[in-house]
Amino acid sequence: MYRWRKGGRFGLAHPSQVNLVNALRSIFLFTLAFLWHLSPVEAGHKEFIAASPLPQYTQECAACHIAYPPAFLSVDSWLRIMAGLSQHFGVDASLEPDQIKLIGRWLASEGGTYKKVQASPPHDRISRSNWFLREHRRVDPDVWLLPSVKSPAQCNACHTHAERGRFNERELRPPPGMTGGFR
Ligand code: HEC
Ligand code: HEC
Repeated sequence: MYRWRKGGRFGLAHPSQVNLVNALRSIFLFTLAFLWHLSPVEAGHKEFIAASPLPQYTQECAACHIAYPPAFLSVDSWLRIMAGLSQHFGVDASLEPDQIKLIGRWLASEGGTYKKVQASPPHDRISRSNWFLREHRRVDPDVWLLPSVKSPAQCNACHTHAERGRFNERELRPPPGMTGGFR
């Protein structure tokens, strides 16, 4: 005669189902962790380096500020910036048309695709993005104006490895003139 065992096939207690529940839970947690990781806001855990760096970008776009990681702006924003270089945040940053095309095409392939960077920030400034403002809400507004900083766009005034796409908290250095630490 056949009888269902206690905790039989339809009971949650059956070992194979416990395994399935555990597996699903692991997948769920892993996915969460993974998405969290991908968010530009959780930048501390990873380096923002382009998949295939373009030497011309570093040459042409790192003279007046760091070569910003392409992942921090949407493709739309980058293309607008590349289309307006002759009037670039108050300076003339013009390039030859073939350079503009080359760098523009590269930025279009490396630009941020995270949900948080899809909306273009005001004036296509990384430093005006919601995630940027949130991450820097504890920075005293006076600090941005120090001669050693000048503006939020000068990432490397505080992030010692910004040129290498690293922005984690352990590699922060209070800029000269700033009293106290960041917290
Ligand atoms: C005046 C100094 C300063 C400047 C300039 C600055 N940051 Fe920051 N940044 C900070 C501080 C301080 C934190 C940490 C905030 C906290 O943990 O409370 C931070 C955090 C971050 C984080 C999050 C890091 C993490 O581990 O979660 C990112 C990403 C970041 N900054 C990017 C930038 C970028 C990009 C620029 C330039 C466009 C920039 N920052 C300019 C001070 C600065
Ligand atoms: C001749 C100097 C110069 C060159 C060359 C230059 N920029 Fe800039 N860029 C600036 C200035 C000045 C600002 C405004 C900085 C500030 O607010 O402190 C700026 C700001 C930016 C910002 C916004 C930063 C923020 O989040 O506030 C982006 C993005 C940017 N530049 C991209 C580029 C790209 C891409 C190139 C290369 C094609 C480039 N820049 C070349 C001078 C330059």
